[in-house]
Parts: sequence; C-alpha cells; structure tokens
Amino acid sequence: MKHILLIFFVLVPLLGYTQSTVSIIPFPNQLVTEDGFFSINAQTEIVADEGLEFEVKYLQSIIDNHFRIKPTVAKKLGENVILLQLSQSDMAEEAYELHITAEQISITASESTGVFYGLQSLRQILASIEENRIPAMKINDSPRFDWRGMHLDCSRHFFNPEEVKKYLDYMALYKMNTFHWHLTEDQGWRIEIKAFPKLTEIGAWRTGTMVGKYDNHEYDSIRYGGFYTQEEIKEIVAYAKERHITVVPEIEMPGHSLAALAAYPELSCTGGPFQVARKWGVFEDVYCAGNDSVFVFLETVMDEVLILFPSQYIHIGGDESPKKRWEACAKCQNRIKEEGLKDEHELQSYFIQRMEQYLNAKGRKIIGWDEILEGGLAPNAAVMSWRGTEGGIAAAREAHSVVMSPGSPCYFDHYQVKDPTNEPLAIGGYNPLDKVYAYEPIPESLSPTEGDYIMGAQGNVWTEYMKSFDHVEYMALPRMSALSEVLWTQPEFKNYKDFLHRLKYNTQILDEMGANYSKHFLSDIK
Ligand code: ACM
Ligand code: ZN
Repeated sequence: MKHILLIFFVLVPLLGYTQSTVSIIPFPNQLVTEDGFFSINAQTEIVADEGLEFEVKYLQSIIDNHFRIKPTVAKKLGENVILLQLSQSDMAEEAYELHITAEQISITASESTGVFYGLQSLRQILASIEENRIPAMKINDSPRFDWRGMHLDCSRHFFNPEEVKKYLDYMALYKMNTFHWHLTEDQGWRIEIKAFPKLTEIGAWRTGTMVGKYDNHEYDSIRYGGFYTQEEIKEIVAYAKERHITVVPEIEMPGHSLAALAAYPELSCTGGPFQVARKWGVFEDVYCAGNDSVFVFLETVMDEVLILFPSQYIHIGGDESPKKRWEACAKCQNRIKEEGLKDEHELQSYFIQRMEQYLNAKGRKIIGWDEILEGGLAPNAAVMSWRGTEGGIAAAREAHSVVMSPGSPCYFDHYQVKDPTNEPLAIGGYNPLDKVYAYEPIPESLSPTEGDYIMGAQGNVWTEYMKSFDHVEYMALPRMSALSEVLWTQPEFKNYKDFLHRLKYNTQILDEMGANYSKHFLSDIK
C-alpha cells in the first residue's frame, strides 16, 4: 500500500496535476485527490471551535482578499461551510488535515497551529484555481523539521516594526516557525533596555555608513539608526505568536558588541572610547571576559530580554570574536589563571558557559554560532552551524541540538544569479534558488541517531548591503519558499520543476501582499 501511495505522490507532480490545482508551498506530505468541487459564495459560512478566533479572522481575510466576500460565522453545521476544528485525537502539534468536498471544507488539527497551517494551504490552493471551483481533495500534512527558521539582521540596517511584521507574514505563508531576530551588532544596538538607556541613546546611532564595495568603500556622513521600544517588541512578538512563529532574539557576545561598548566603554578591556561602527566587518574590541561587571551587565540585559521573549532558546551570538584584546588585558589573563583555562579560546568558552548557567537557571536554553564549539561547548547549548556544516556535525556527534545554516546555501545575502552585473550590490557569494531547493540539512556523514540532533535549518538575511526593506524582500523571496520545502516536505516528494510551477501561482499571493520578490526563477520555467 505504501508503495502505491509513493508512486501516486511522485506521479502527481510529474503529471502536472499539481501545477494547476494544488500549488501549495511547501508541498504537502500526503495528498489524495477526490471527485467534485467546492464553491465559495456569499452564503458560505464559517464554523469554528473555541480557541480559533484568530484563525477565523485570518480565514475571513483570505476569502475577502480572494473573492471579495466576507463569510459570516455560524454556530450550526450544515452544507456550504468551512469548518475549523480542534480534534481530540493525537495529531502532532503542527499537523493538520484539510478535507475539501463538494459540501464543505474542513480543517482539523489538535492545536491552532495546525489549523493555521491548513489555512495557509487553502489560501495557496485558492491562488491556483480557475474561477470558483476548489477541487476536492484530502491533505494530511505535517512538517519534517521542527526548526524552520528565517533570520533578519536589523542592526546593520534598521527595519521598522511594520516591515518586521511583513517579514513575519511571508514566513507564515510558508509555514516557517522560527524568527531569529538579530538585534545587536557593532553597527547598532536595536532593543530598548530600561536598565541601560545609553544602549539606545548612544548605541543605536552611527554617524555614517560605509557605501560601496568593501575593497573600494567610502562613507556617507548621514546619522543612521533606530531601535525597537519594549512596547514595539511586545507587539511584534504577539503578532508572531498569532502566526505560530517563535521569535528567538540574538544578543551578541562577546564580539560584535561595539555599539554596546560605545555606550558603556567600561565593559571593554581598554576602556575605549569607541564609536558605533560605520564599516562592516569584525572588530577587535569585545566585552572584557575578566571583568565581573560585564556579566552583571549582560545578565541584567537578559532579565529584560526574557520578559519580552518567551522563546525556549536565546541566541547569544558567539561568532567572530577576536582574542587580541583578551591577550593583552590583565583582567582577562587573570581570569584565565584563576579559572585554570588553557588559552583565550577556553576563556570564550568560560564566557559562554557562564551565560548559559544564568539562562538555564531561568529555564531557558542558549543557541550560538558554531564558534562556541571552540574551547569546549557549553553543556546544554545548541549550535547554529554557519561556517559550513562541520560545526553542526561536531555538535550533533557530541549529542547537542543543531540548526544548520551553512553560508552555502543558507545565506540569502549572497547573489542569486551567476552574473551579478545587473543585481543590486551584495556581499558576494552565489546561492541560486535551485541550490537552496536541493539542500539537505542532515549531513550524510551523520548516523541516524546523530542526525536526530539536527533540529532544522535557517535562512539568514544579513543586511550590510540592504538599506531598504524592498531589497530585503528581493533577497529573501523566493529563496525562503524553497527553504520552506526543504524543511517541511519529505525529500521523496520534492521536485524542483514542479516547485517552480507552483511558485508561479504562488506569486499571485506575493503580489497581493506587495512583495518585491526576485523574478529570476521565471526564466527557469520551461
Ligand atoms: C555570521 O555570519 N557571522 C554568523
Ligand atoms: Zn579584558
């Protein structure tokens, strides 16, 4: 039976059936077509279980956008209804069943998350139908990976709360569930911390910005910056939660911290003074690891962060932290001696482990870039593998959870066409859509048990070269949609050619949303 189903699922894309009728991205893991059609009209009503109030509103707006009809909510079941229901059965948390018959559409899940995902599938089906004939089918669907992430760097360039919400809307469309919000950097501190007002009075503003290519750059002299108030952050986190997206904040340490040091130079090894960086890159001045006030500072920052972000994981950065200042700092050297550490790598490990202890005691887990492996991984830390996959492989072998985000193909700040002559300036690299689509997050070299530590993967949007949200959209879309299929759909049901056709229908939704997505993929459709 399994064999027959498999043939059916593989054949469906090949026969082209999905191309015109089931343009769902990411493609569902189980889909059976049935006879007949459902039509939505002015009499169609919505019936929903308690606890699905947001999903009802969301469905109303989908139907309103598509048909210019606003269906009312009814209490009693009948024909011509769209039913949203929470089932008592033991479906997985993110799973859903979408059943379309001639009489009704039903979406069933054990949690509102699954109902929301069913709505996203329905929304995408609507974008691919002709007239008002929604083909009967039954979808039973659930994701392959738990961490379906997108990152956004709001420090190199600042994107306002409305833009961040738009980013979340795109993520929701593709059932991505983790937003990694990069909030602190050398070039700007973006989160209001009430205990340390200078972080945003001073740290959120730079006197100019590097312009042009790195090896041939100049500076403008325009004051640039911005930050999110705690009220704005609460609103964004709530907005994400409604869309079943967890926001994981990143507070960088010990490196990429120049904006904080510009505000509080006493947290450095040398005492400063410092300026919020105008140039991109890696800077030698980092938090002093020998000074206990640094930990008091970071723990106080975390106290406010934890109130704003209920996520299980807190990202503590950990990448690209030069050791030069630590080598020359009496306090840092003293710490190395007192703690019996071998070198500055172990000092970095001490730094991260000390923060991990603090956050673990508050019931949270840390995740950091793969440099946190150097000098010894903190006992409970998860690793985000960005310098290739080696860090992720090493961490999984040590039985630590991993999020894969290797530069190739997960850095969406890289170019998406081979010849970038006519592209807006980017940091470099080449990550075309088909390469993103072909990505397999579990490295072959891992055993099945080790592979289980791969929680998923993430697309990163570093914004050194993206001044506008339009440009962010251009870099993130449609690569985000390809990554969503990597993370949701079982590999045997993936098919790039079919994906491109579905994507073409899908752009109707992106157009409605006003997204400035890249259209290069259109020339790949034969
Ligand atoms: C990174 O790209 N520095 C994590
Ligand atoms: Zn020091």
